[in-house]
Amino acid sequence: MTLAYAPGKVILFGEHAVVYGRPAIAVPVTEVQAQACVEPGSAGNGTIINAPDLGRRVVLHDAADDDPLAHIVRLALEAIGGEQDPDLVITVTSAIPVARGMGSGAAVSTAIVRALFQHFRYWLPSRGISDLVYKAEVLYHGRPSGIDNTVVAFEKPIYFVKDEGWEVFWVGVPFLLAIADTGIQSSTKEVVGDLGRRYQGDAGKYDPLFDQIGAIAVAARSTIEQGHIEKLGHLMDQNHRLLQQLSVSCPELDRLVVAAREGGALGAKLSGAGWGGNVIALITEEIRERIGMVLRLAGAAQVIITEVR
Ligand code: PMV
Repeated sequence: MTLAYAPGKVILFGEHAVVYGRPAIAVPVTEVQAQACVEPGSAGNGTIINAPDLGRRVVLHDAADDDPLAHIVRLALEAIGGEQDPDLVITVTSAIPVARGMGSGAAVSTAIVRALFQHFRYWLPSRGISDLVYKAEVLYHGRPSGIDNTVVAFEKPIYFVKDEGWEVFWVGVPFLLAIADTGIQSSTKEVVGDLGRRYQGDAGKYDPLFDQIGAIAVAARSTIEQGHIEKLGHLMDQNHRLLQQLSVSCPELDRLVVAAREGGALGAKLSGAGWGGNVIALITEEIRERIGMVLRLAGAAQVIITEVR
């Protein structure tokens, strides 16, 4: 039996603008993980993928081309280069909330690729894993920037510019984030598609907003590297206001942002595509214990505290 894992992620700064070539920052969230387990299957059965959390059992040779689980398994088996439908049982589980901007799709794909490569005793560097997962992300997202697969496969804070590259960067002083889930699923493909259509009609309105978001991501990177965490909260607040202007926030997200600030957070913003999903709040050790309750009272379905380091 071979087990492999991959973490969740959140985007700290720059969502949406990153699709239009501006920089963004994302960090792994190791408190929640996806897991893939590969075991030998019964002779002649081919590859079976079980995803009990999703209530799914996928028989590889019957699965549609656009089935996301089958797709990533096929991509991995093709890259390994052996039999394309070996007798295997792959079981996928995940503690990462689905469709909340936490990279659950990328994490599940990464865990599957890692487990299959380990099972066949092949080694694939993180870059190769990230590239394979990107191909699967196209199915989930339509037009992904590539930030999810990169941060999840490398498991490091990254500064990312689509089509140009990315860098792992140094966190001067570790800091705490509260991740508050609205409980509302949101489709990245839908939100990105909607903004894309609005952008086509009025690029002159959106480009300056994307520029401002990009400038915030640049400032945030040096703030984090220098360990000036007190300045980071202000940048998060500014980024949230710009996301509101892009019309990707919603009342539930705004309510959690306000509650986080009133509860003592140094700043807060939506994270990911918006119209649901998560709010992230920069918190101090002093409010760590009570912020969960504050956010739940404001409607959060779940609160995860993570340390960025
Ligand atoms: O909701 P998520 O975590 O999949 O984030 C989407 C981030 C976007 O910038 C809106 C899209 C992308 O592909 O980067």
